Amino acid sequence: MKFLLFISTLIFLTKTSYSDEKMLALGDKEYGQHLAGECVTCHKANSDKAIPSINGYDKEVFLTVMLAYKNKEMENPVMQMIAGRLDNEQIASLALYFNSLK
Ligand code: HEC
Repeated sequence: MKFLLFISTLIFLTKTSYSDEKMLALGDKEYGQHLAGECVTCHKANSDKAIPSINGYDKEVFLTVMLAYKNKEMENPVMQMIAGRLDNEQIASLALYFNSLK
């Protein structure tokens, strides 16, 4: 029983990272920089605590978080609205761009 659980977790994890990779392949860092104009009005490099800085954010976590806002699994209404307007290509581009920042 434990072994089965282990195997299915493994399959799940492999699948997840595979689709992350596929989604990130859609992205373009320069396009991300262009789109980021909207984000950096709130997400500044030295952000206060209410709005975290997202510079250097992990790419995979970025996808997960943005999709969670988009699907309204995460609560913040501003981010739900913003993520809701972005398609996979745009989210992937933003992931690559913000990940490249210090
Ligand atoms: C109007 C202000 C505002 C704008 C514009 C905005 N955000 Fe946010 N964002 C927030 C706030 C506030 C939070 C924190 C929500 C919370 O802590 O519950 C957040 C959270 C996030 C998080 C999760 C950070 C973490 O560690 O919890 C990510 C990733 C993110 N935003 C990405 C973006 C991207 C990408 C854009 C541009 C497409 C963007 N945001 C535009 C206000 C904004």
